[in-house]
Amino acid sequence: APATPDLEAQVLAALQSTPKFDTYAQAKALNVDHQALVGAVKSLWADGYVTMDQKSCSWLNATKEGCDISKNGSPEYKVYAAVSAAGSLPVADLEKSVGKASAKVGLGAAMREKWLKKGGDGSLSVAKEGVADATRKMLEPFVGLSEPPATPPVLQANDEKQLLRRKLLKKETLKQFEVAKGANYSLERKRKQGDLSVDMLRDGSWKTADFKAYNYNAVGAPVGGGYFQPLLKVRAEFRKILMGMGFEEMPTSKWVESSFWNFDALFQPQSHPARDAHDTFFVKEPASTLKWPADYYERVKNMHVSGGSGSIGHRCPFDEGEARKQILRTHTTAVSARMLYQLANREGGFRPAKYFSIDRVFRNETMDSTHLCEFHQVEGLVADYDLNLGNLKCIIRTFFAEIGITQLRFKPAFNPYTEPSMEVFGYHPDLKKWTEIGNSGIFRPEMLAPMGLPPNVRVIAWGLSLERPTMIKYRIDNIRDLFGHKAELAKTEAAPICVFP
Ligand code: PHE
Repeated sequence: APATPDLEAQVLAALQSTPKFDTYAQAKALNVDHQALVGAVKSLWADGYVTMDQKSCSWLNATKEGCDISKNGSPEYKVYAAVSAAGSLPVADLEKSVGKASAKVGLGAAMREKWLKKGGDGSLSVAKEGVADATRKMLEPFVGLSEPPATPPVLQANDEKQLLRRKLLKKETLKQFEVAKGANYSLERKRKQGDLSVDMLRDGSWKTADFKAYNYNAVGAPVGGGYFQPLLKVRAEFRKILMGMGFEEMPTSKWVESSFWNFDALFQPQSHPARDAHDTFFVKEPASTLKWPADYYERVKNMHVSGGSGSIGHRCPFDEGEARKQILRTHTTAVSARMLYQLANREGGFRPAKYFSIDRVFRNETMDSTHLCEFHQVEGLVADYDLNLGNLKCIIRTFFAEIGITQLRFKPAFNPYTEPSMEVFGYHPDLKKWTEIGNSGIFRPEMLAPMGLPPNVRVIAWGLSLERPTMIKYRIDNIRDLFGHKAELAKTEAAPICVFP
């Protein structure tokens, strides 16, 4: 109970007339709750108005069974009285006259005390005349002592032990305090000031005010910590897995990309439907890109128009304006293209590389419970000499095994920039069903040759969304609960850490 100023005043007043008091008796005298009084005393103690010493006291009180005996007599005496009244009583009849419970404990005790004896025929008779019910007598003064008695009844040590053992008495304890005047005692409590206020500065009361000391040991109010969005947790895990497999992370900070790197460099025909406003967000300002490697642009254009490296190309006109259009990248494969171009043109020539990225991509899609117009793509690629489909399947198997998906199926598919291409299906142990988990393929020579990669360098690659595994991991059905303005912050905050598999 919180200390009320009124109670504090009463405590201070009481110490004027008496040098010390015990809280329990004082609470009784003041007719207030003991704990409330202790609260007031503690508050005064904190400012040195009073001293307080813990003074626990304990005493004995009759248990429910003890009370019953004091009222109706002990089992041993009941047995004794029954036998004594009957003169001789067959053991078998004892229960009938004193009850089952009393017969059981009482007979044993009465025999032990040698109050009764048993004849050869099994009948009981009195062995000691004039026995009194000592147990009952001893218990009487202990009945109803729920509070510490002023003068506690006394018992011989042996009897006390007996009655405690028989659970006829129990020990009660009371935690209370002895209170006396403290170093700062005064009849009136002056509240210490917690803060210096404008008013105190104005009226000058700060000069005489008594300020609370700083408590440097106080534990500060807890500040809310930051937390990671579930997508970021899964991203961190994927990143750890891919780095563990020896992949380097690609720089994916450019969300605005030119159509050139997003589509043309990937040998995606300029007439491809994915390149119109239904699927792609175009940037108005600046609407077109300024720079790209001029010679590389020419080689890409030639590949589209007339082919090369064994290909006949798309054999359709190539428009520079189309290639310059600025867009929000529709896939991180645009970044893969930039990285492969750099790899082909680095000082010292091509070196084998393993790259990955996990970042945001944008598509002008109709939104529903599984689609938003922006999402995250996980992408990985390996560029090395003479890689084949077996290498790609192995990499995919290794990656998915790390997140707990070991049963995989590959299905032929089409991507403008890979040949062959495979969709990846996995048996999901949480969903207990086959589900599409990714897309993959070997980049086309039409894409790699213009970059200047050596002809026998193959690039195997795969991609998946970050949202899908996150939704499965966190049991989220609607993508809008995971990402965007409708996602509940409290749920995001409470999401557990992510561990695979
Ligand atoms: N870029 C593809 C997509 O948007 C994924 C992919 C990456 C496919 C690499 C094949 C190779 O779905």
